[in-house]
Amino acid sequence: MSRFATLDQLDFQNKTVLLRVDINVPMKDGVVTDTTRIERILPTLKEIAAAPAKIVILAHLGRPEGKRSEKYSLRPVAKALEKLWGKTVSFADDCIGPKAQSAIAALKPGDILVLENTRFHPEEEKNDPAFAAELAKLGDVYVNDGFSVSHRAHASTEGVAKLLPHAAGRLMQAELEAFEKALGNPAHPVAAIVGGSKISTKLDLLENLITKVDILVLGGGMANTFLAAQNLRVGKSLYEPDMLETARGISARAFARGCRIILPTDAVVASELKANVPVRTVSVMEVPPDAMMLDLGPDSVKQINAALQTCKTVVWNGPLGAFETAPFDKATTAIAKRVAELTKEGKMLSVAGGGDTVSALAHAGVTDSFSYVSTAGGAALEWMEGKELPGVAALSK
Ligand code: 3PG
Repeated sequence: MSRFATLDQLDFQNKTVLLRVDINVPMKDGVVTDTTRIERILPTLKEIAAAPAKIVILAHLGRPEGKRSEKYSLRPVAKALEKLWGKTVSFADDCIGPKAQSAIAALKPGDILVLENTRFHPEEEKNDPAFAAELAKLGDVYVNDGFSVSHRAHASTEGVAKLLPHAAGRLMQAELEAFEKALGNPAHPVAAIVGGSKISTKLDLLENLITKVDILVLGGGMANTFLAAQNLRVGKSLYEPDMLETARGISARAFARGCRIILPTDAVVASELKANVPVRTVSVMEVPPDAMMLDLGPDSVKQINAALQTCKTVVWNGPLGAFETAPFDKATTAIAKRVAELTKEGKMLSVAGGGDTVSALAHAGVTDSFSYVSTAGGAALEWMEGKELPGVAALSK
């Protein structure tokens, strides 16, 4: 990752490091319910604290729309970090001004301070230069470890990077290196596995992937639209009638570029999406009018796994069936397990990210067996779409 400075190039010893992270974690009744994103910043925190240097954390929680709101306070998240860190983590009630400044003045090298939600100020999302300057005043150097929020051109992700010496943190570095290996300069053949319900939300993704990968595996509701575009009857299945022409266009462009699209050949169908409803496996040519396709069938899985066998790189975005409802998790799990095996055998690099992907792979029990599973949602999607992420671009300038 030579285009970006990393912690190796930044002089931060005995300095105050302004560290942007993404600790936008799920909460219930004021308690953090999944600490994955907090755990992932620990290597960066350890390295900076050991320098030693003071760490001032900039972060957001939820979408408070520029207003202060207890529901979106980072205080409980700072508590969860303190538990994982094992030492005191202080908290300041504002991310700029006297409250932030006096809390920073009280820090010793090696200490961590979490500043209150940057999004309590409307200037954050507007990337207001004066607000970015207020943030920049608080530190000597800036480190961005929040890849998953770097698709936002906000003051704490983009604006402040222009004002201070800067670098990518270890998590940001790992995310960028993984995505670069998977789509920037991958070992071929490359397969992309794309699921999810709608083509309309993934048009840019599909258009970019067909220019980069050798095999594009489609599942989920979006595959139904491709099947319908081939004039197959999809019964009551979810599909987008107004996207049929688009699906045909994508298929034609993929064919012209030598990208093979693999569509389901069979499907698990039921009359409704409900746990343990009676199901049937049918060919995609014989979907009954009163049935909906809710998962790929065993022939499709066999065909996809055989194609993956030949691949050196796999990128994965989106589940292939309605995996949250049994038994429609079978295909996603079987294919995820195969990718995990091939990765463990050293035959494949596998990188996944975006939306429901992390939960689908966690459900399959393979998160630790993939080469890299990103916790990024929108940012991972935009990266796979080939877009420049403003927070990442700011680090290279
Ligand atoms: C995320 O959870 O994907 C990031 O924290 C970005 O959040 P946002 O979509 O509210 O900007």
